[in-house]
Amino acid sequence: MVSLRENLITPLARTVAGQLGRPHGPLGGVVAEALDRGNGQAIATAVSAAQPPAGGVAADIGFGGGAGLRLLVDTVGTGGTAHGVEISDDMLRRARRRFRRDLDSNRLKLHRGSLTALPFDDAALDAAITVNTIYFVDDLDAVCAEFARTLRPGGRVAIGIGDPDTMRQLPVTPHGFRLRPVDDIVAALQRTGLTTDVLSRAEGRLPRHTITAQRDG
Ligand SMILES: C[S@@+](CC[C@H](N)C(=O)[O-])C[C@H]1O[C@@H](n2cnc3c(N)ncnc32)[C@H](O)[C@@H]1O
Repeated sequence: MVSLRENLITPLARTVAGQLGRPHGPLGGVVAEALDRGNGQAIATAVSAAQPPAGGVAADIGFGGGAGLRLLVDTVGTGGTAHGVEISDDMLRRARRRFRRDLDSNRLKLHRGSLTALPFDDAALDAAITVNTIYFVDDLDAVCAEFARTLRPGGRVAIGIGDPDTMRQLPVTPHGFRLRPVDDIVAALQRTGLTTDVLSRAEGRLPRHTITAQRDG
């Protein structure tokens, strides 16, 4: 007899994991809304840790539903620029519709790109956030090198993650998530010369960590 796990739970978990790693297709819009609802607090914490200055340049890498883009546009204000970077074409399409006015006024720019190859010049960013994304990247050193390259002196990046030990117990994470201890992420950031700080909080059933790294001015 084929078990419930083989028939139902594993295929469902694999589908959800694939959507979280790259929301797409008919389910993509539902996933985007769920991400904005479920991760709003973690995204707001990352924005406040990254301290985007009014009039500055800030980016959300792997913005998913776009809650972080809204916060960055509002925080940098009319004299600033927010950037969104995504590998999902469907999330980019959705953001183009949702943020049409901010795009038209050049307060927001959207790019297809990856954490491992950011579409920015050296020292272009005052602040960056990336929340619930680095699970989907194999080469963490490449991600950290890109942040070290693109941050201005004094600039900060905030990386938000769920607690890896708690996430390991979720049914979706065996399907393509790379769960790293906070210390490994801190060490990778420090290897690039960035100065780090960690904020950890219990939030519902999933404790969260926000790892902030600053390029010394
Ligand atoms: C779990 S969602 C998180 C979305 C949003 N940051 C949040 O916290 O709600 C992960 C997002 O990262 C994007 N992503 C995955 N790998 C990426 C990469 N290498 N570079 C940029 N974005 C990536 C996915 O397309 C997806 O939208």
